[in-house]
Amino acid sequence: MGSDSYALKSMTNKITYLDDGDVCILTKEKIEFYNSKNKKINKEILILSNDENIADKGDYKDFMSKEINEQKITTKICIKEYIDLLRQDINIYNFPIKPDEINKIILIGCGTAYHSCATAKYWFEEFTDLQIEIDMASEFRYRRINFNKKNLYIFVSQSGETADTFAALDLCKKNNVKTCSIINVVESTIARNSDFVLPIHAGPEIGVASTKAFLGQLLVLYILVLKISKLRKEISKENYIKKIKDLIELPNLITETLKCEDKIKIIAKDFVKAKGVMFLGRGLSFPISLEGALKLKELSYLHAEGYPAGEMKHGPLALIEEGLPVVILAPRDKYFEKTISNMQEVIARGAKVLLITNESKNIISENLRFTLEIPKADNFLTPFLLTIPLQLLAYHVASLKNCDIDKPRNLAKSVTVE
Ligand code: G6P
Repeated sequence: MGSDSYALKSMTNKITYLDDGDVCILTKEKIEFYNSKNKKINKEILILSNDENIADKGDYKDFMSKEINEQKITTKICIKEYIDLLRQDINIYNFPIKPDEINKIILIGCGTAYHSCATAKYWFEEFTDLQIEIDMASEFRYRRINFNKKNLYIFVSQSGETADTFAALDLCKKNNVKTCSIINVVESTIARNSDFVLPIHAGPEIGVASTKAFLGQLLVLYILVLKISKLRKEISKENYIKKIKDLIELPNLITETLKCEDKIKIIAKDFVKAKGVMFLGRGLSFPISLEGALKLKELSYLHAEGYPAGEMKHGPLALIEEGLPVVILAPRDKYFEKTISNMQEVIARGAKVLLITNESKNIISENLRFTLEIPKADNFLTPFLLTIPLQLLAYHVASLKNCDIDKPRNLAKSVTVE
């Protein structure tokens, strides 16, 4: 059973989506469609995209390890789709509203997709003067929203079938505002109902816990930020070209980062007996700490919390006790010294710290349990690289606990009910 078109892939590549109230009569000989008024109607038959490797784990033990490793390829494919190397430009045209006529952007999603929205907020604020809001679809759909035609509502979803995200999109449509979706499954309900669709080109994601779709969402959001900034004349030409060049290097940096897996396996052995784990970061690393905690919860059933490092003293510091594992995300950015000082505070209270950074050589801390070095990169690209060790950590802790990696208990890949 499944709610994604992939579930039917072994039987057919032709698919038709029914609207509310539609009825379909399917016999060996023919197929007929009727609408809610019993009127015979014609429906479009879509051909599913041809992904050969859908149900094939290849040499991998499970889909999740395959999907984590595929990120070096899927990001490359996505960059190729959006970046025009010759023109040093981004291939995104025909926005539903002209970028210089947008006042505000509202980014909406659920679960991991919400975390990509939370990351993009920092990028938008750095590269544009736009007002940015982020919302969880399950909250947005029931709030009293002041809709505005000068706002752009962006929906992020891997499956394109999440009930809450679709309901939030539907609400926007009923209020006649412009919508855009960032989607993996391009035939999905959310994609078909949005004014503008930006595919992430990640290929089928089968593991319930989202990995390659998250990096794909981040990538398309970052590309969109750069494009909007350019069209609004908020980024200089030189900087725009520099950011595009940096982006082209990203798949290589991802390949390099994936080499940390052996070290992560050792760290996972130390984390597996913990009661819980805390993830701390500031700025762009904060939403990544939320995603790291979510991955660990979903896969290994450990209690995990992501927190902005600067908020620790307002409560969570009370949770720190001897031996509690804390993951500190501290790339060399404007928050670096502050985050390192937060790290010293938790170490002083007995926490067992894993520091993930791209600047380890100047950090001297006697009681630092593990340090993991990720490649140096443009600050705006570090969220991609920080995510990988966190995915691998969740994966290996869950493996050691013999959890069902691809199908964690109580969870579904596409949540099509409330
Ligand atoms: C489920 C999945 C998550 C996913 C969320 C949103 O909870 O288990 O991995 O992030 O739905 O799904 P979507 O398809 O809308 O991105």
